[in-house]
Amino acid sequence: MSQSAKKRITLAFTGASGAPYGLRLLECLLAADYTVYLLISSAARVVMATEHGLKLPSGPEAAQKALVEHLNGHSEKLIVCGKEDWFSPVASGSAAPKQMVVCPCSAGTVASIAHGMSDNLIERAADVVMKERGQLLLVVRETPFSTLHLENMHKLSQMGVTIMPAAPGFYHQPTSIDDLIDFMVARILDHLGVEQGLVPRWGYDQRDQN
Ligand SMILES: Cc1cc2nc3c(=O)[nH]c(=O)nc-3n(C[C@H](O)[C@H](O)[C@H](O)COP(=O)(O)O)c2cc1C
Repeated sequence: MSQSAKKRITLAFTGASGAPYGLRLLECLLAADYTVYLLISSAARVVMATEHGLKLPSGPEAAQKALVEHLNGHSEKLIVCGKEDWFSPVASGSAAPKQMVVCPCSAGTVASIAHGMSDNLIERAADVVMKERGQLLLVVRETPFSTLHLENMHKLSQMGVTIMPAAPGFYHQPTSIDDLIDFMVARILDHLGVEQGLVPRWGYDQRDQN
């Protein structure tokens, strides 16, 4: 298999606060030459419009077109899948990418994944990645967490899922919201093994400042 053929990933946007994280991550993955299968929940579209002013149509083709326009290009590598598109490659272990990120990830989607619901393509794709022993990363956003949230995340963590709360640090001395977004996206890309230089790394650039 060629190197570029291996660069496939599933990305899901769900209805947690943090739409800009998802958009920036998508932009970085496409820039890194990944083919991205993008899944968008109905609540994610509401959050995207509320937080980012981006109104995504409900149909996958129209949503894909809107995103390509928003990101200025990269059309051939972005594949938006419908929420019941059971014929999508991400729905089967025989074809799904080995890596998946849900960013942002709602507490509701955490619960559904933790219980193997597979009731829509996001839940099914996550279930597939887990059963195939791939890499699943959930960028969860809620505060505070209830015991139920924590139990669900604990269960998933024990199964090898990476729980990565959308909790940007401040030690890179952010001066803008974009800096905070990039902090989170940089950590996600690091975990995925995607080369990035979005923020200075701890212990290198900091030394010069003290
Ligand atoms: C603007 C907005 C912000 C929201 N923020 C969060 C959040 O940060 N975390 C969360 O778990 N749910 C949040 N919700 C609620 C979820 O969208 C809701 O529970 C939804 O059913 C999740 O569905 P999904 O997981 O299929 O996207 C938010 C909803 C809206 C409209």
